[in-house]
Order: sequence, then C-alpha cells, then structure tokens
Amino acid sequence: MADMETTPAGEETLEAKLEAMLEIEKFEPPEEFREDALLSDASVYEEAEGDWKGWWTAQAKELHWFKEPTEILDDSNPPFYRWFTDGKINASYNCLDRHVQAGNGDRVAFHWRGEEGEERDLTYADLHRDVQRFANALKDLGIGKGDIVGIYLPMIPEVVVAMLACARIGAPHNVVFGGFAADSVRERMEFSEAKALVTVDGARRKGKTAPIKQQVDDVMGDLETLEHIVVVQHTGADCEMHDGRDVWFHEVMDKADAECPAEELDAEHPLYVLYTSGSTAKPKGVVHTTGGYMTGVTSTHRYVFDLKPDRDVWWCSADVGWVTGHSYIVYGPMGNGATSVMYEGAPDYPHKGIWWELCERYGVTLFYTAPTAIRACMKWGVGHVNKHDLSKLRLLGTVGEPINPKAWLWYHMVVGGERCPIVDTWWQTETGAIMITPLPGIVATKPGSATRPFPGVAADVVDEREGKPVADGQGLLVLKRPWPAMLRTLYKEDERFVETYFSRFGKETYLVGDAARKDKDGYVWIIGRIDDVVNVSGHRLSTAEVESAIVSHQLVAEAAVIGQSDEDSGQAICAFVTLQGEAVEGSDELVEDIRAHVGVRIGKFARPKRIIWSDDLPKTRSGKIMRRLLRDIADGRALGDVTTLRDPDVMSQLEDKIKEEQAEG
Ligand code: PRX
Repeated sequence: MADMETTPAGEETLEAKLEAMLEIEKFEPPEEFREDALLSDASVYEEAEGDWKGWWTAQAKELHWFKEPTEILDDSNPPFYRWFTDGKINASYNCLDRHVQAGNGDRVAFHWRGEEGEERDLTYADLHRDVQRFANALKDLGIGKGDIVGIYLPMIPEVVVAMLACARIGAPHNVVFGGFAADSVRERMEFSEAKALVTVDGARRKGKTAPIKQQVDDVMGDLETLEHIVVVQHTGADCEMHDGRDVWFHEVMDKADAECPAEELDAEHPLYVLYTSGSTAKPKGVVHTTGGYMTGVTSTHRYVFDLKPDRDVWWCSADVGWVTGHSYIVYGPMGNGATSVMYEGAPDYPHKGIWWELCERYGVTLFYTAPTAIRACMKWGVGHVNKHDLSKLRLLGTVGEPINPKAWLWYHMVVGGERCPIVDTWWQTETGAIMITPLPGIVATKPGSATRPFPGVAADVVDEREGKPVADGQGLLVLKRPWPAMLRTLYKEDERFVETYFSRFGKETYLVGDAARKDKDGYVWIIGRIDDVVNVSGHRLSTAEVESAIVSHQLVAEAAVIGQSDEDSGQAICAFVTLQGEAVEGSDELVEDIRAHVGVRIGKFARPKRIIWSDDLPKTRSGKIMRRLLRDIADGRALGDVTTLRDPDVMSQLEDKIKEEQAEG
C-alpha cells in the first residue's frame, strides 16, 4: 500500500495490478495472522459437525446466565424451535454488568465521533450507569416486561443506551433505521403496538438538520397505542412537546433512580422485533429472543473477526437500525467487551477520507463494511485512503450483498495493505448472526465467495423442485437445522412465518430466499434473491412496498418495480409507471415528484433511480405483472416466453421505448 502513489499513474499501476490479481483463485490465511488466531485448526469444523448441539452449548457457556440451561434445544414443534429453554439470562447484563464486575469498567465501549468532529469516549462503566437510569426512567413511564418500545434515533450513544435499557427490563425494542421516513416509523409502531417511542429533536446529515420530532408528530398524532414519546435533545431543533405524551430524555434521566438490577429473563424472552422487507408491501416483524441470539452473535463476533477484546478496536460501519448494527455494533461486540468506533456521519462527510482518518485516529484493527461502500471508495480514489496510516488494521469484513472480485481485491490491496484476511459474511435479519463465512485463520478465501458455513451451521444448495443437494452448481440456499440465533417467528404472524420460510421443503428446512452456487471445493457463492426483494446498497426493500408508494401518488395509475443491476449500489430501483388519464409520458418534474413522494413514504434510499413511462404493463391473463420480463428488457436481455401474456404487444412497445431512451443516451 505504502508504495502506491495517488497520481493518475499510480491509479493505472493499481488498475493493472488488480487486473492481474483477478487470476488468483484462492488466498490462504496469512501466516502471521494464522499463528495468532483464536481458531487455526480446521478440526473445529468436524468437531462442531459431530456434536452441533454440544458446540452451541459451549458457546452459550461463554455468556453469563443467572441460571444455566440444562435443556439445549426443544424441537418438539418445528419450525417453532426453542433454545436453552430453562436458562435465565439478561442481554444488558451480559453487555455491561459482567464487564464492569470483571474490572473492565474503564475500558472504552465506544469512541463516538459526531458529524462535526465532536468526540465522546464512553466506557463500559459510563454505559452501565446510563442504561440503569434509562431503564428506571422507562419503568417510571409505566413500561414493563413485554411492552414494545420503538427507537428511531441517529447514530448517537443514546441509541445504545435505549436498546440496552429495554433489554434490561425485558421490554422488546423495535428499532427503525433513521433513513426511513416518519410514515414507515408510524407503520412499524402500529404493527407492533409499541407503547413508547424514543426519538430525537433533529438528526444531522452532511451539515444539514432534519426535524425528526416534528416529522414524527405529523404522522403519529392519532396512534392510540403509543402512550409516550421520549425525545433526546441532540441538535436543538425546534420541537413541540405534547403534554402528557412527550418527555425529554435528559429530564427523565435526571429524575430516575440510579440503580436498576437486570431482570432475570427466560432464555426465550423476546429481545427485539426488527421489521424487514419481504415479498409483499407489509414488512415482516422478525422476532429474536435472548439466550440463543446472544450465543449466536457473541460467538460469531469472536471467531469470525478473531476478536481479542483487550487489544482490538472494532468498527462496524453499518447503521444501528439494520440487523448488522443490532448484532455487530451492539449485542455481539458489547457482549464480548470489545472497544468500538461509532460514527454519526456519512462516509463522505466532512470529506471522502473520513473513515480512514478515524481508523488511524482510533487505531482500528478490525473493520466491517458493505461492498457498496467499498465501490464508492474505489470511485473516490486511493488518495483518500493512502493519506492515512492504516497499519493497525489486521482483518477486514464485508456484509449485505455479493462483493464483486474487483472490489474485493481493491479492499485487500488498498485498505488491507495485502496483509489482512477478508471475511465475506453471509447472513440475514432472520438468521440473527453470521451463517456463511470464512474463519480467517483457517479457510482460504476466494474473492466473491462467502466460502463455507460457520461451525455448527448446516447450509446447503438444493435444486428447486425436490430440494436435493446440488453437487457442483446452482440452486436454492437452505439451512437444514435450527441454530440458536434464528428468528422465532414473525411478530403476531405465526402463519406467515411458517408459510414464508418453512413451506417449500417442509418444517425442518429453512428457505433462505437466495439463489446460490456451490463450486467443486464446496464453496458457496451467493447469487441474489429469488423473491421480490431488492438489495440497494445492502438495504433490503420489497418491490411491492415501493410499488405501493408510487401508486399512492395522485397522478399514477399503476406501477411495477424491479431491481436492476447497478455498478455502484449492486441493484437499483427501476419503476415502470402508467399514468392516470390519457397522458403516457410524464415530465421531468413529475419524475422528481414521484421520487420525492417515495422518499416521503418510505425513505430516500428507496427512491427509484430510473422511471420508465409505459402505456401498459405486461400481465398474465389472470392480471399478474410479469416482472421477469421487465427485468429482461431493463437489462437488455433477450425476452423469455411471452405467450402467457394477455397482450404480447405491450412488450414490443416497451422494448422500442427502451431502445429509444438508450439512443438518446
Ligand atoms: O441476499 C442476501 C444478502 O442480503 C440478504 C439479507 O438482507 P438483510 O436481512 O437486510 O441482512 C443484511 C445484513 C446481514 C440476504 O438474503 N446478503 C447478505 N450478506 C451477503 C448477501 N449476499 C451476498 N453476500 C453476502 N455476504
């Protein structure tokens, strides 16, 4: 890395080197890394396979239990599996009290950095103090075990305090990503019947302030189940406080008692609900419980990232509002007593090298991000990276979408200085924890492959029809045995849970929803979703959700949304839109208006990149939109079978249109 220049000539040398490296099939774990790795003997795979329940039990024993479990797995009613059923545990206790008791209270849990350069170091003792107070404040508001608490906060330390305070008293949290619009927050509060919401006066983004509380007020007014709104004062943005409903975070903290012992909860007590996108417009409330989830996230965080809590500095660049943030900013790292970096801002604010500046400043050793972010950094150029000393980095990770080999190699060379192993980790909101990944001291990596299942996990690629394993080729990814961090159900929708994941191949085989390929060495290559879910920059969206937002625009009659391959974001949203009335074509202003409308209904990240006006949409005789055909024309592929269409002419008209558009550039 050091000899790589930042001049155009340097970029050319890099380009040539990357091209040459594309020929390399496998990267063995670096010797220096292997020598010091927590796991370096491949026998761990066979041992875990021989006694997978024993393997997970050993992982569970690393946690603190008020009462150790004696029953490991209750599989009497699949797919409703229950783990460590008679154990008593608390996630907040595991993330705080036990580290303080072990004499590590002074260890920094988070080096927090604000968008404008503010810094706050929060130790485990600091958070232990704040979490107890906020847990008491919640109790003072009448929140107790089993009540759902919504959290809609930016990347500020209070988000961790709020989550762990909920966990402490057994009130499952329902965190909504700060990039979602207030409408989406309302929907999620309504579905989960949340009793309280913790939010903020305003959120900062690239130097601007969004009036969050005001936006929340606009949509939440008549939601009767929501009794309290707790507001964190962060930016000083104007907000009205409604008597009897709204309270300031700092005021309730001041009034609350200092001590709040953690509740001794059943292992299967729900820790949180997290809404994610599925095939229909209604998001799915994925439910995770306590003992199994904590077992999954702490063990994977330790072994996949080779964490040495007393030496490492960990940084997961995700937002806490996605599952990656839940598992690998909060519960995994804090359960393991790690020191982390938390950054409020965007990767290009105040400048495009901010991530690397922070890696240098805090001495980050382990870095975890999404392929989209790596591709953005590639575009911005090596100069932003090379300005900083990244010599402390010893391992890199990726998550959220397939990584193209070139981005992998760039990450390896430019960020990792060719010495850091890369772990490409595959998992989902539903799996709770990493499922397919290399163990960095053992498994040779291949750029673009998540390699093999984590010990104890039974993942396979099967054929579509019968669900038989494919030896060397493409099929559907499935998980063939329960794992501790698995989702337990969809909130208040048991039937949808069974139907979505356990109806295709029976109640003991979890259907992932991804297509994958297995190569001759048994390595898994994730191809992408098989359902109507789009992955935009690692953000999961349902095409139906975006369609329903577009159709709610007053000038739109009908819409069909597809995910189109995109160089930057992996996939981008492309919408085919039919207007009301006679007009076939809309103006450029209308394009912007529809995009803005989607931004308000779902969130800015869901805005379509491309809108194609269409007179009609390709439908089957029963009226179902054939998205497969739309994907084909949008990507410029030859069309598949069109004979089942009600009106085959629709396709040729659309094709002409796209050609015209392309000719215009
Ligand atoms: O399609 C897979 C993709 O992201 C989906 C899960 O999305 P979500 O629940 O939002 O969780 C994302 C973060 C864990 C998967 O079904 N995906 C996730 N990780 C990878 C991936 N695709 C390829 N490679 C990965 N490493």
